[in-house]
Amino acid sequence: MRWKPKDSIAVVTGASSGIGHCLCELLLDRGATVVGVARRGERLADLAARTGTGRFISVVGDVTDAGVREQILAAAADVDDGRLDLLVNNAGIGAIGPFADADEARLRQIMEVNFFAPAELMRDAIPMLRRGRAPVICNISSVLGHRAVPDKSEYCASKFALHGLSDSIRAELARDSHHGNSIQVTLVSPSTTRSEFFDSLIGSDAAAKSKSIGSWPPEKVARATLAAIESRRSEVILSLAGKALVYADRISPPLMNSILARSN
Ligand SMILES: NC(=O)c1ccc[n+]([C@@H]2O[C@H](COP(=O)([O-])OP(=O)(O)OC[C@H]3O[C@@H](n4cnc5c(N)ncnc54)[C@H](OP(=O)(O)O)[C@@H]3O)[C@@H](O)[C@H]2O)c1
Repeated sequence: MRWKPKDSIAVVTGASSGIGHCLCELLLDRGATVVGVARRGERLADLAARTGTGRFISVVGDVTDAGVREQILAAAADVDDGRLDLLVNNAGIGAIGPFADADEARLRQIMEVNFFAPAELMRDAIPMLRRGRAPVICNISSVLGHRAVPDKSEYCASKFALHGLSDSIRAELARDSHHGNSIQVTLVSPSTTRSEFFDSLIGSDAAAKSKSIGSWPPEKVARATLAAIESRRSEVILSLAGKALVYADRISPPLMNSILARSN
């Protein structure tokens, strides 16, 4: 069974820029009703006005706030009797710089946004998703949630945590399949994306730069994400460079350890 955007009800966190913003546009174009979440309300209002469908519902707030997460699900529940077809946990932040030079606040903030918030949103959304049509939870991870690199320790840790949680919950939810409507968990792992992500790094040197080979525009990541959702894939790793990093690491972790240590 495929996931179909037409007449679906979706929640997308991190809807004000980058991948989340582009994904909202795609979903709206294809007939979904979208609850979009971010702290920058003016960006969400622009998106609602520009798409002009009347099917975009803004929730302005911080995903780390339990009250905001409650508002998100209440807004989605109001659309059609408590049903939800898609939850996209996309909101995320990063930092660049050695772990030893940073403080506890940087680690905790990244884990709150990238791991604890999506984890609790999933837990709270599961009863609504169970009433959904071919329901999907799509977690936006990163290739750095498969292979960690230096100077992004907290970010890698948060994405590894999201990866592990996604794999475990996917297997748990598959037990519902005898009811004929099990929730799929789709883990999408982009590599470097030309979004505003690197403008909003926390606890990082202003001159901090991310090393990467090649990058994708957010529109392309959003299209690949929607394709993965529609075909209810378990996991996709995007970009050739991303696949090279992850598969080379699977073949020889010690070799990758030594390459990364030397590159540092
Ligand atoms: N860019 C990359 O190279 C890259 C690579 C791999 C994976 N990813 C992942 O892709 C996802 C999207 O990132 P992006 O590249 O599209 O970056 P982006 O343009 O910076 O977008 C991040 C989005 O998350 C929202 N957000 C951040 N903290 C939030 C919070 N506490 N509460 C609510 N919303 C919050 C931001 O909105 P507000 O600031 O308005 O709240 C924004 O809409 C992230 O999970 C990121 O880790 C990115």
